[in-house]
Amino acid sequence: MTRSFEPIWLALPFPAFVVDVSSRIAEVNDAAEGFCMASKRQMKGEPLEKFSSEGSAVLDAVHQAQNGMRSVVLHDIKIGWGGKPRGVANVQATRLASGEVLLLLHPRSIADKMDRSLSHRNAARSVVGMAAMLAHEIRNPLAGISGAAQLLAGTLSVEDRELTSVIEDEAKRIGELVNRVEAFGEMGPGVVEPVNIHDVIDRAKRAAAAGFASHIRFSEVFDPSIPPTAGSSDQLMQVLLNLLKNAAEAMPSGGAITLKTAFRPGVKLSLPGKRSQSLPIEISVKDNGPGISPSILDDVFEPFVSTKSGGTGLGLSLVSKIVADHGGVVDCKSDSGGTEFRLLLPVWNERKR
Ligand SMILES: Nc1ncnc2c1ncn2[C@@H]1O[C@H](COP(=O)(O)OP(=O)(O)O)[C@@H](O)[C@H]1O
Ligand SMILES: [Mg+2]
Repeated sequence: MTRSFEPIWLALPFPAFVVDVSSRIAEVNDAAEGFCMASKRQMKGEPLEKFSSEGSAVLDAVHQAQNGMRSVVLHDIKIGWGGKPRGVANVQATRLASGEVLLLLHPRSIADKMDRSLSHRNAARSVVGMAAMLAHEIRNPLAGISGAAQLLAGTLSVEDRELTSVIEDEAKRIGELVNRVEAFGEMGPGVVEPVNIHDVIDRAKRAAAAGFASHIRFSEVFDPSIPPTAGSSDQLMQVLLNLLKNAAEAMPSGGAITLKTAFRPGVKLSLPGKRSQSLPIEISVKDNGPGISPSILDDVFEPFVSTKSGGTGLGLSLVSKIVADHGGVVDCKSDSGGTEFRLLLPVWNERKR
């Protein structure tokens, strides 16, 4: 019986490629077009080097499959296509009878969905990698641009030099942004001290109400019995400010934010291979805005996911990183009636210090 596998191939829900014996891409499925953001025509015939990945993992996996291992799987690899980052995936390379290699990518959003619903540590981890990669990728061309502008300035009239100084100034601004993104990647938990979360919430609320959230009504439902959590009050303040800012931005013509705290001694987090941890302190930030767009709801904690023109998409990613650094978790519920972010944090424990 002969049978065409073409429809199955095209319908595979994850990116798949066939790599020929000279390490060029021979076949591409639909999901691969989506993942690489390139058409089949642009990808077919291209050398494997068009993929960029940490330590050239994609190339290595295919070479290993070609030369002996037959089937190779590498986990959590940052993958780029044509010099642009495209996501994190598990990479699987399998040698076919023809000598070609079947290359499958399992994007992390599928592979780790369960893990992620518990905690967004992975998002934070990918920010760190992404930050380092971005900084590296941007710095060199930027130095070239401002160097060229300086050289050019020497040959120009005074009026025209204004333009080259715009180039230099803007290049400097990008450089500073890169530094900030990079510092974000390196940021650790900082000083760990007992933190009264009501003080932090109060500070964040007052700062918000005096500035970007002056058009918002606030209400508070606080549980006064909550013991201190452990961490950095400045960083937790940053978390709340980011959540309040998003809520305020989602409700430009006014709306309401409810800040709620609760103490739930029964709440425990268990991560595979770790002792379960008690996370009894709950903070909730709820708005009655239009909700998070369903198209990004699964990825809101991922870096660079934003629906705003001029948005960085780093706010929630920073939230998830700081909360994870504090040993806590954050989750999000959203529908057309509003959005709620819930933080669960551990209690300060003198004996553990
Ligand atoms: N409270 C909210 N209501 C509606 N959408 C939200 C809310 N919070 C976050 N979002 C959505 O999540 C995206 C990512 O948020 P964030 O990581 O802070 O990045 P940015 O604010 O720079 O876009 C936003 O662009 C927005 O679409
Ligand atoms: Mg934001």
